[in-house]
Amino acid sequence: MTKLFPDPPPAGSPLLAARPANEVRSFLALRKSANKIFLGEPGPTADELQQLLSIAVRVPDHRKMAPWRFVTFQGEARREFGKALAHIAGSKDGAEARDVVEAAGLPLRAPTVVAVISAPVDDGRTPVWEQELSAGALCYNLLLAANSCGWGGVWLSEWITFSKDVDTLLALKENERLAGFIYIGTASAQPQERVRPDVSQLVSAWPPGDL
Ligand SMILES: Cc1cc2nc3c(=O)[nH]c(=O)nc-3n(C[C@H](O)[C@H](O)[C@H](O)COP(=O)(O)O)c2cc1C
Repeated sequence: MTKLFPDPPPAGSPLLAARPANEVRSFLALRKSANKIFLGEPGPTADELQQLLSIAVRVPDHRKMAPWRFVTFQGEARREFGKALAHIAGSKDGAEARDVVEAAGLPLRAPTVVAVISAPVDDGRTPVWEQELSAGALCYNLLLAANSCGWGGVWLSEWITFSKDVDTLLALKENERLAGFIYIGTASAQPQERVRPDVSQLVSAWPPGDL
Protein backbone atom coordinates (compact mmCIF):
# COMPACT_ATOMS: atom_id res chain seq x y z
CA MET A 1 0.00 0.00 0.00
CA THR A 2 1.36 3.41 -0.95
CA LYS A 3 1.12 5.70 2.02
CA LEU A 4 0.37 9.16 0.66
CA PHE A 5 -0.08 11.16 3.85
CA PRO A 6 1.13 10.99 7.45
CA ASP A 7 -1.24 9.36 9.90
CA PRO A 8 -3.50 11.82 11.69
CA PRO A 9 -2.71 12.11 15.40
CA PRO A 10 -5.25 10.84 17.94
CA ALA A 11 -8.05 13.24 18.83
CA GLY A 12 -6.92 15.63 21.54
CA SER A 13 -3.27 15.68 20.43
CA PRO A 14 -1.73 19.14 20.21
CA LEU A 15 -1.37 20.38 16.63
CA LEU A 16 0.21 23.49 15.13
CA ALA A 17 -2.34 26.18 14.20
CA ALA A 18 0.05 27.52 11.56
CA ARG A 19 2.63 25.70 9.54
CA PRO A 20 4.62 28.12 7.38
CA ALA A 21 5.84 26.39 4.23
CA ASN A 22 7.15 28.00 1.06
CA GLU A 23 6.17 24.99 -1.00
CA VAL A 24 2.57 25.23 0.16
CA ARG A 25 2.50 28.94 -0.70
CA SER A 26 3.57 28.17 -4.27
CA PHE A 27 1.15 25.26 -4.41
CA LEU A 28 -1.78 27.50 -3.48
CA ALA A 29 -0.70 30.43 -5.65
CA LEU A 30 -0.33 28.21 -8.72
CA ARG A 31 -3.21 25.76 -8.16
CA LYS A 32 -5.26 25.03 -11.26
CA SER A 33 -8.02 22.62 -12.17
CA ALA A 34 -7.29 20.14 -14.90
CA ASN A 35 -9.05 20.38 -18.24
CA LYS A 36 -11.85 17.78 -18.22
CA ILE A 37 -10.88 16.45 -21.65
CA PHE A 38 -7.25 15.84 -20.67
CA LEU A 39 -7.56 13.62 -17.61
CA GLY A 40 -6.40 10.05 -18.04
CA GLU A 41 -4.64 7.12 -16.44
CA PRO A 42 -3.16 6.58 -14.02
CA GLY A 43 -5.56 7.65 -11.35
CA PRO A 44 -5.52 6.76 -7.68
CA THR A 45 -5.99 3.13 -6.70
CA ALA A 46 -8.99 2.33 -4.51
CA ASP A 47 -6.72 2.47 -1.48
CA GLU A 48 -5.15 5.77 -2.55
CA LEU A 49 -8.60 7.21 -3.10
CA GLN A 50 -9.57 6.28 0.45
CA GLN A 51 -6.51 8.19 1.63
CA LEU A 52 -7.46 11.22 -0.44
CA LEU A 53 -10.95 11.14 1.02
CA SER A 54 -9.53 10.88 4.54
CA ILE A 55 -7.70 14.14 3.90
CA ALA A 56 -10.68 15.72 2.15
CA VAL A 57 -12.87 15.37 5.25
CA ARG A 58 -10.43 17.43 7.33
CA VAL A 59 -12.52 20.56 6.80
CA PRO A 60 -14.23 22.98 9.15
CA ASP A 61 -17.48 21.36 10.23
CA HIS A 62 -19.67 23.13 12.79
CA ARG A 63 -20.67 20.73 15.61
CA LYS A 64 -18.85 17.85 13.92
CA MET A 65 -21.96 16.92 11.96
CA ALA A 66 -19.96 15.32 9.10
CA PRO A 67 -22.77 16.51 6.80
CA TRP A 68 -21.47 14.88 3.62
CA ARG A 69 -20.75 11.52 2.08
CA PHE A 70 -19.27 10.15 -1.13
CA VAL A 71 -20.08 7.74 -3.89
CA THR A 72 -16.97 6.67 -5.79
CA PHE A 73 -16.69 5.37 -9.33
CA GLN A 74 -13.58 3.58 -10.54
CA GLY A 75 -12.84 1.07 -13.27
CA GLU A 76 -15.79 -0.69 -14.89
CA ALA A 77 -18.24 0.86 -12.42
CA ARG A 78 -17.80 4.12 -14.35
CA ARG A 79 -19.06 2.39 -17.48
CA GLU A 80 -22.10 1.05 -15.63
CA PHE A 81 -22.81 4.50 -14.21
CA GLY A 82 -22.43 5.93 -17.72
CA LYS A 83 -24.97 3.43 -19.06
CA ALA A 84 -27.43 4.48 -16.35
CA LEU A 85 -26.82 8.15 -17.18
CA ALA A 86 -27.37 7.40 -20.86
CA HIS A 87 -30.69 5.77 -19.98
CA ILE A 88 -31.72 8.87 -18.01
CA ALA A 89 -30.59 11.20 -20.80
CA GLY A 90 -32.42 9.12 -23.40
CA SER A 91 -35.70 9.24 -21.54
CA LYS A 92 -35.82 13.05 -21.45
CA ASP A 93 -38.29 14.76 -23.76
CA GLY A 94 -36.61 15.65 -27.03
CA ALA A 95 -33.50 13.60 -26.30
CA GLU A 96 -31.24 13.06 -29.27
CA ALA A 97 -28.86 10.18 -29.92
CA ARG A 98 -25.85 12.37 -29.24
CA ASP A 99 -27.20 13.26 -25.77
CA VAL A 100 -27.27 9.56 -24.94
CA VAL A 101 -23.74 8.97 -26.19
CA GLU A 102 -22.47 12.03 -24.37
CA ALA A 103 -24.11 10.96 -21.10
CA ALA A 104 -22.54 7.50 -21.32
CA GLY A 105 -19.12 9.08 -21.63
CA LEU A 106 -19.36 11.54 -18.74
CA PRO A 107 -17.89 9.25 -16.04
CA LEU A 108 -15.26 7.90 -18.43
CA ARG A 109 -13.46 11.23 -18.64
CA ALA A 110 -11.22 10.38 -15.68
CA PRO A 111 -10.12 7.15 -14.01
CA THR A 112 -11.72 8.19 -10.73
CA VAL A 113 -14.93 10.08 -10.22
CA VAL A 114 -16.25 11.03 -6.81
CA ALA A 115 -19.82 12.19 -6.25
CA VAL A 116 -19.79 14.46 -3.23
CA ILE A 117 -23.13 14.48 -1.46
CA SER A 118 -24.10 17.25 0.90
CA ALA A 119 -26.12 15.65 3.71
CA PRO A 120 -27.12 18.38 6.15
CA VAL A 121 -29.28 17.59 9.12
CA ASP A 122 -31.47 20.35 10.52
CA ASP A 123 -30.91 19.87 14.23
CA GLY A 124 -32.39 23.29 15.00
CA ARG A 125 -28.98 24.58 16.08
CA THR A 126 -26.57 24.12 13.19
CA PRO A 127 -27.62 26.12 10.13
CA VAL A 128 -28.09 23.94 7.06
CA TRP A 129 -26.28 26.64 5.06
CA GLU A 130 -23.16 26.12 7.17
CA GLN A 131 -23.31 22.40 6.56
CA GLU A 132 -23.62 23.00 2.82
CA LEU A 133 -20.63 25.33 2.91
CA SER A 134 -18.66 22.57 4.60
CA ALA A 135 -19.47 20.29 1.63
CA GLY A 136 -18.02 22.92 -0.72
CA ALA A 137 -14.88 23.15 1.40
CA LEU A 138 -14.61 19.38 1.23
CA CYS A 139 -14.77 19.36 -2.58
CA TYR A 140 -11.96 21.87 -2.77
CA ASN A 141 -9.93 20.01 -0.17
CA LEU A 142 -10.28 16.83 -2.21
CA LEU A 143 -8.89 18.64 -5.25
CA LEU A 144 -5.97 19.97 -3.22
CA ALA A 145 -5.26 16.55 -1.73
CA ALA A 146 -5.23 15.02 -5.22
CA ASN A 147 -3.03 17.80 -6.62
CA SER A 148 -0.57 17.44 -3.76
CA CYS A 149 -0.06 13.79 -4.75
CA GLY A 150 0.44 14.60 -8.44
CA TRP A 151 -3.04 13.98 -9.82
CA GLY A 152 -5.03 16.58 -11.66
CA GLY A 153 -8.64 17.15 -10.80
CA VAL A 154 -11.67 19.17 -11.67
CA TRP A 155 -15.00 19.84 -9.95
CA LEU A 156 -17.89 19.63 -12.40
CA SER A 157 -21.61 19.79 -11.87
CA GLU A 158 -23.23 19.56 -15.32
CA TRP A 159 -26.81 18.32 -15.58
CA ILE A 160 -26.12 15.14 -13.61
CA THR A 161 -25.80 17.17 -10.40
CA PHE A 162 -29.29 18.59 -10.79
CA SER A 163 -31.21 15.56 -12.05
CA LYS A 164 -33.81 13.95 -9.78
CA ASP A 165 -33.25 10.71 -11.68
CA VAL A 166 -29.54 10.75 -10.87
CA ASP A 167 -30.40 11.48 -7.23
CA THR A 168 -32.59 8.37 -7.26
CA LEU A 169 -29.90 6.30 -9.00
CA LEU A 170 -27.41 7.26 -6.27
CA ALA A 171 -30.01 6.64 -3.54
CA LEU A 172 -29.88 10.17 -2.18
CA LYS A 173 -32.02 10.66 0.90
CA GLU A 174 -34.58 13.43 1.35
CA ASN A 175 -32.08 15.79 3.04
CA GLU A 176 -29.29 15.11 0.57
CA ARG A 177 -28.10 16.95 -2.49
CA LEU A 178 -25.19 16.49 -4.88
CA ALA A 179 -22.43 19.06 -4.40
CA GLY A 180 -20.94 17.92 -7.67
CA PHE A 181 -18.54 15.39 -9.14
CA ILE A 182 -14.79 15.49 -8.64
CA TYR A 183 -12.85 13.97 -11.53
CA ILE A 184 -9.33 12.79 -10.68
CA GLY A 185 -6.58 11.44 -12.92
CA THR A 186 -3.32 12.31 -14.60
CA ALA A 187 -3.38 15.48 -16.67
CA SER A 188 -2.13 14.79 -20.20
CA ALA A 189 -2.03 18.51 -21.04
CA GLN A 190 -1.20 21.33 -18.74
CA PRO A 191 -3.99 23.88 -18.27
CA GLN A 192 -3.47 27.59 -18.79
CA GLU A 193 -3.96 30.27 -16.22
CA ARG A 194 -7.30 32.03 -16.53
CA VAL A 195 -8.22 35.60 -15.73
CA ARG A 196 -8.53 35.90 -11.97
CA PRO A 197 -10.73 38.33 -10.11
CA ASP A 198 -9.23 41.66 -9.09
CA VAL A 199 -9.48 41.28 -5.36
CA SER A 200 -9.27 45.03 -4.83
CA GLN A 201 -12.70 45.26 -6.52
CA LEU A 202 -14.14 42.73 -4.10
CA VAL A 203 -12.89 44.08 -0.83
CA SER A 204 -14.02 46.97 1.27
CA ALA A 205 -12.82 47.79 4.71
CA TRP A 206 -15.43 48.65 7.27
CA PRO A 207 -16.61 51.27 8.05
CA PRO A 208 -17.30 52.56 4.50
CA GLY A 209 -15.87 55.94 3.51
CA ASP A 210 -13.21 57.92 5.30
CA LEU A 211 -13.79 58.68 8.89
C1 LIG B 1 -19.73 23.94 -7.84
C2 LIG B 1 -18.96 24.05 -9.12
C3 LIG B 1 -19.45 23.45 -10.26
C4 LIG B 1 -18.76 23.54 -11.47
N1 LIG B 1 -19.28 22.94 -12.57
C5 LIG B 1 -18.63 23.06 -13.75
C6 LIG B 1 -19.18 22.48 -14.92
O1 LIG B 1 -20.23 21.83 -14.87
N2 LIG B 1 -18.52 22.64 -16.08
C7 LIG B 1 -17.33 23.36 -16.14
O2 LIG B 1 -16.76 23.48 -17.22
N3 LIG B 1 -16.80 23.93 -15.04
C8 LIG B 1 -17.41 23.80 -13.85
N4 LIG B 1 -16.88 24.36 -12.73
C9 LIG B 1 -15.60 25.11 -12.85
C10 LIG B 1 -14.37 24.25 -12.67
O3 LIG B 1 -14.45 23.39 -11.58
C11 LIG B 1 -13.15 25.12 -12.41
O4 LIG B 1 -13.46 26.03 -11.43
C12 LIG B 1 -12.71 25.83 -13.62
O5 LIG B 1 -12.54 24.88 -14.60
C13 LIG B 1 -11.33 26.55 -13.47
O6 LIG B 1 -11.04 26.79 -12.19
P1 LIG B 1 -9.56 27.06 -11.71
O7 LIG B 1 -8.88 27.76 -12.82
O8 LIG B 1 -9.67 27.95 -10.52
O9 LIG B 1 -8.94 25.77 -11.35
C14 LIG B 1 -17.54 24.26 -11.51
C15 LIG B 1 -17.06 24.86 -10.36
C16 LIG B 1 -17.75 24.77 -9.18
C17 LIG B 1 -17.19 25.44 -7.94
